[in-house]
Amino acid sequence: EVPVLTLDGPSGSGKGTIASRVARTLGWHLLDSGALYRLVALGAARRGIPMEDEAALADYALQMDVVFEVQPDSGEVLAKLDGEAVGDAIRTEQCGNDASKVAALGPVREALLQRQRDFRRPPGLVADGRDMGTTVFPDAGLKIYLTASAEVRAERRYKQLKEKGISASVADLFREIAERDARDTERRSSPLKPATDALVLDTSSLDINQVVDQVLEQCRE
Ligand code: CDP
Repeated sequence: EVPVLTLDGPSGSGKGTIASRVARTLGWHLLDSGALYRLVALGAARRGIPMEDEAALADYALQMDVVFEVQPDSGEVLAKLDGEAVGDAIRTEQCGNDASKVAALGPVREALLQRQRDFRRPPGLVADGRDMGTTVFPDAGLKIYLTASAEVRAERRYKQLKEKGISASVADLFREIAERDARDTERRSSPLKPATDALVLDTSSLDINQVVDQVLEQCRE
């Protein structure tokens, strides 16, 4: 079996950056499952599919034409929807919010299941998401669940946006994170929670390098 490392956790836990650094270091493939939910939200919006139409959204999730290309120099992953690079269109707060709503729908999650499993190719896969260890790759060899307090996560998001020249208020970001946490943990289909065999890592007082080191250390064991 191709080895899988799952990295799950709430919004703003730093998973994205950590997953991509770990995947590069190991030379493994990377699944950014959040990007898939964001792409469903974006593509559906472009097609005028209402965010309430479960069946149409699930149908779109099954059929959407998505390709991920790894940039050889930066290691950054570029998503193409219908043959066109989506760029920052999937990184907006609006798209994140829509993605969070779309992700609450069981049929949409079901539709993305096989697509996600198809990322498991030699030599290995680092899978970043909410339910990688619980639902998508229950047989993964190593499962890590990253957490941090909502305050710390809001603060991190604030800094991230500031670096991109986007202004926001910490209070607004905190409220958004709390809302997403609620949607992620309260949904009926694959709610956010650590797998029973996951290693829980609280990153509140750690920086990115320290978390990457700890994850890599676990991989070596
Ligand atoms: O971390 P953040 O919420 O900013 O974004 P993301 O990781 O790109 O995920 C976007 C949305 O998709 C999240 O709000 C989650 O609700 C949802 N998601 C999910 O339900 N299951 C996953 N495996 C990955 C993301």
